[in-house]
Amino acid sequence: MNQLSIEPLHPDFGARVSGVNLTGPLSSDDIENIREAIDTYSLLCFPNQDMNDEHHMAFTRLLGEPEAEHVTFGKTGVVKYFGTVGNVQPDGTKQVNADTGTKYQKGNQLWHSDSSFREVPSRESILHAYEVPDGEGDTEFVSMRSAYARLPEDMARQIDPLGVVHDYVFSRAPVAPVDPNHAANMPPVNHRLVRANPRNGLKNFYVGSHARSIAGWSGIESRRLLDDLLARATRPEDVYSHRWSMGDTVVWDNRCMLHRGTGYDADRWRRNLRQTRVVGDEKGIIPLS
Ligand code: OGA
Ligand code: MN
Repeated sequence: MNQLSIEPLHPDFGARVSGVNLTGPLSSDDIENIREAIDTYSLLCFPNQDMNDEHHMAFTRLLGEPEAEHVTFGKTGVVKYFGTVGNVQPDGTKQVNADTGTKYQKGNQLWHSDSSFREVPSRESILHAYEVPDGEGDTEFVSMRSAYARLPEDMARQIDPLGVVHDYVFSRAPVAPVDPNHAANMPPVNHRLVRANPRNGLKNFYVGSHARSIAGWSGIESRRLLDDLLARATRPEDVYSHRWSMGDTVVWDNRCMLHRGTGYDADRWRRNLRQTRVVGDEKGIIPLS
């Protein structure tokens, strides 16, 4: 068994984990310790990992069921598991600021939880850095669990029974149009606004760029509450900004975290990260009437 060494990254959440090689053999105790650390810290950074796609997928499978990437599937029906984050193409060339691929990724610069618009959203995302800009292109994280804990009691009580509609076509509208085949595969879904971690019972709310409305509420009332919750979660003092180093493998818990890219000059830099996700363990969905 590996002896995990855990160093907090932010007062509320996040840990830097050393003493474990994710590409080496991992025992069931190691996996259980990592799962427990995810449930506790919500964000783990494993520096200096000698990663490749095969090891990345093997580690993903140790955590759970890999989630098929939705953009390629939505457009073409082809199932693939890796998302490429950044501007480096499969042939090794780089896209520049003016390329549509670079523009499309601007959607990642809105606070979001990966795949919150799916019936079964992602539980963890696993992102590994192969090439990173120098001093740019950080990824920011906040905890909706800590933000929930800060809510006034009456507000926590008020939001407890609500449903929140997450909608990919809605969240992409200001960024880039969604391919019609893709859009047809991504109808809006209604999730519980307040969810609890099954291991420790800690609650959080579940918002972000894909959150379109509160089920059954008017547009303006919905927007007011969703914007208020987002603002409470993303106060500057609550943000952990991850400055990537080559070899970082970062795992986060989408059930209770929001993240966003901060952008970088794609004319100048190569940014190449690879991402997989683990399918969530509950539908958590309420039918839309
Ligand atoms: C992601 C993501 C933002 C970034 O990998 O899911 O949103 O830093 N990344 O590019
Ligand atoms: Mn993301």
